[in-house]
Amino acid sequence: NKGKYKHYMQKEIHEQPESLTTTMRGRLIRGGACKSKTVLLGGLKDHLKTIRRSRRIVFVGCGTSYNAALASRPIVEELSGVPVTMEVASDLVDRQGPIYREDTAVFVSQSGETADTLQALDYALENGALCVGITNTVGSALARKTHCGVHINAGCEIGVASTKASDWHCAYTSQIVVMAMLALAVGGDMISNEARREAIIDGLLDLPSKVKEVLKLDEEMKDLAELLINEQSLLVFGRGYNYATALEGALKVKEVALMHSEGILAGEMKHGPLALVDHNLPIVVIATRDACFSKQQSVIQQLHARKGRLIVMCTKGDSASVSVGGSCRVIEVPHVEDCLQPVLNVIPLQLLAYHLTVLRGHNVDQPRNLAKSVTTQ
Ligand code: UD1
Ligand code: BG6
Repeated sequence: NKGKYKHYMQKEIHEQPESLTTTMRGRLIRGGACKSKTVLLGGLKDHLKTIRRSRRIVFVGCGTSYNAALASRPIVEELSGVPVTMEVASDLVDRQGPIYREDTAVFVSQSGETADTLQALDYALENGALCVGITNTVGSALARKTHCGVHINAGCEIGVASTKASDWHCAYTSQIVVMAMLALAVGGDMISNEARREAIIDGLLDLPSKVKEVLKLDEEMKDLAELLINEQSLLVFGRGYNYATALEGALKVKEVALMHSEGILAGEMKHGPLALVDHNLPIVVIATRDACFSKQQSVIQQLHARKGRLIVMCTKGDSASVSVGGSCRVIEVPHVEDCLQPVLNVIPLQLLAYHLTVLRGHNVDQPRNLAKSVTTQ
């Protein structure tokens, strides 16, 4: 049931304050003698020691789910101290890459039925790794075959059985939230991390209201879509926590709006992508406040020097520090703890992809050539 919305995709984007709330429900609690806040993930609590002791954590997924894992990688590494490597499911299987008994392999899949991810899971099970699932679908093959895991409880599968797009947009943000909670749970209660942990938990609790604020950019993103409607291509530059945001924004523009788009790691700009920059090609640069901000400012300057057509996403109040000579289009988003910023930053890009799709006359809820869950290889 689409309710007041025209499309499921639109409904899903706008209902993220609710889907994020259900994802967190019952999982953030005040505990212990000092009444500090903690995370309780029922599905992982008996396995945390094993995960902490593992030699590395390997994230495995495809498409949007891979991107969500990539967005979460830095905070999982920071809080757990365990190295995290990333694997696109099909590539792990193609390479028969090394997976060891001492590894924790985390499989991320909204549907829990994606063939590539399930094949990688079988491979990791054969190799004796602890296999953890992160999925939206109770009873899915992924949930059944993994040793343990977390349901993201985004609730967005209901009533959308025949559509494709409608079950991704809220899954991405809920997956990031679950993996931030996983980082907190695996990180445990080390005193040295206490302030950081508290800040992340406060940030999680604040997310639904900040998402509501970001959703107010809807009209602005529609205007931007109108400007971009006839473009051939869109580049999205991000780094650090928001490299994944660049990949995910570009993936949505590609698969829903059917426009060529690439997410680019800004640190790689000088090593190839700069050659593409001219006064025609639109480029989104994600430059919200975090440890990489000054590096992104210098990326903006270099793109500007080559007459790039820039659209900069920045933290509220930062327009003047990112828009060189006042010449860029700016998208301002609220600030949240750095590791959660990708949850907010992806939303304007989801809205942009949605409006581009509608304006270009494509089918929003059933993108061309895509199946709801790819159960073949
Ligand atoms: C569970 C209940 C929830 C209840 C809550 C009360 C289910 C599905 N969830 O939620 O209804 O309100 O307890 O405490 O009954 N799992 C996997 N692989 C996966 C995902 C999950 O093995 O990919 C396993 C988990 O390890 C766990 C079980 O499935 O044993 C349920 O996971 P989850 O729903 O995340 O657990 P809770 O949040 O505790
Ligand atoms: C692809 C879809 O087929 O599957 C992507 O086109 C999706 O959008 C990917 O992200 C993975 O799906 P899942 O269900 O494993 O998260």
